[in-house]
Amino acid sequence: MIEDGRWAIKASQTVEYEVVETTDLLNPDNPQLASLPGQLEGTGSRLIILDQAIEGLCGRKVRRYFSLRGIPVEYLTLPTGDEHKTLDNVLRVTSRLNALGTSRLSTPPIAIGGGVVQDTVGMAASLYRRGIPYIRVPTTLLGQIDGSVSAKNGVNYEGHRNRLGTFTPPPRTLIDRAFLSTLPERQVSSGLAEALKLALVKDPQLFAVLEKYGASLVAERLQDSSPETSTEQPGRTTMHRAIAGMAEELQKNLWETDLQRIVDYGHTFSPLIEMKALPELLHGEAVAMDCVFSAILANQRELLSGTDLLRIINTVEAIGLRPSHPLFTDEQVLTLALEETMRHRNNQQIITLLDGIGRTIFVNDLTQSEISAAASRMRNLIGSEIT
Ligand SMILES: NC(=O)c1ccc[n+]([C@@H]2O[C@H](COP(=O)([O-])OP(=O)(O)OC[C@H]3O[C@@H](n4cnc5c(N)ncnc54)[C@H](O)[C@@H]3O)[C@@H](O)[C@H]2O)c1
Ligand SMILES: [Zn+2]
Repeated sequence: MIEDGRWAIKASQTVEYEVVETTDLLNPDNPQLASLPGQLEGTGSRLIILDQAIEGLCGRKVRRYFSLRGIPVEYLTLPTGDEHKTLDNVLRVTSRLNALGTSRLSTPPIAIGGGVVQDTVGMAASLYRRGIPYIRVPTTLLGQIDGSVSAKNGVNYEGHRNRLGTFTPPPRTLIDRAFLSTLPERQVSSGLAEALKLALVKDPQLFAVLEKYGASLVAERLQDSSPETSTEQPGRTTMHRAIAGMAEELQKNLWETDLQRIVDYGHTFSPLIEMKALPELLHGEAVAMDCVFSAILANQRELLSGTDLLRIINTVEAIGLRPSHPLFTDEQVLTLALEETMRHRNNQQIITLLDGIGRTIFVNDLTQSEISAAASRMRNLIGSEIT
């Protein structure tokens, strides 16, 4: 008798990528933007994908950079805003890569722009020839402190955030804080929400910086340009601590096989609410509200003191964000949002709650009445009346 066979294949891959801070990135004397990561070598034409805002603000500088360095490139400008994070735009990128004959390794495209462009190009690069390297140059605060470290890309699909996507980090991400100097304040505030999230779950020192310098970080767009900030450098500290904190958390769980992720703080109820409110709420704006809502849940369980809750709400406001929104007062929406998130967490709640600022626990027994009580406290925070 012939037995059925079984062939097992096991392979592993080391994942290595870097986030590099630089200054004056678009100065032709700075080789960083053009250089190929790792041991790669190549001479063919490369595709440069520009965020529409970056096209307007720095398009000429980027073109000058590559022409002075004698590097053959072509350009593609993509629209931004989450409504444009679509499969169609991914295919626009792959189509240009194809037309250009982009090779497997030696002509990595460069994405210069916010998180939407990064996620779109990242997904295109991960699909084209089953995956080619690319270079990420994030130009928004959210892109620089959050997306920069991430291995993920993706697009919105059928009304769901990031429903299609892959885990494929680019070998190199370049950060130049000067890009933020042209960012609208609202976008700076939204980006700071991710720094606040990290501060709350693991970095009381970062929280102290945000608490003290929140308003000037926004006004100065993290450039440390006033006499006080040029000494204390809260912009630089915020950037460095946020990237380091994120890198530390992601490295130990890059593929998210462990669903207990403290970096998901602020991301339990907000994903559905953000999509429901689109385009009213930016990502960070919804995240900050979720941070407050979750802090209220912790306060109800007497894990977080009233004083610390108030400090959190005040800091949310200091960085220019609202602590609440009508959708965060709607018990039905909140319940639905939790159910949606649980589907992403293997049907478990796995909610991160603050056990004081900088410490966390995970809970799986949140009740309807706790949601309801927190929702009514969120009602009192609309219009910023602090309870
Ligand atoms: N892959 C990840 O891990 C990850 C992490 C965080 C966020 N994201 C995704 O990123 C997206 C949000 O990113 P975002 O907040 O950067 O939004 P965005 O890409 O839409 O950029 C925000 C706005 O700023 C403009 N802009 C970009 N750089 C600028 C500059 N230097 N000066 C002036 N304007 C500039 C853009 O054109 C856009 O209008 C979401 O889709 C989110 O899911 C992904
Ligand atoms: Zn986020």
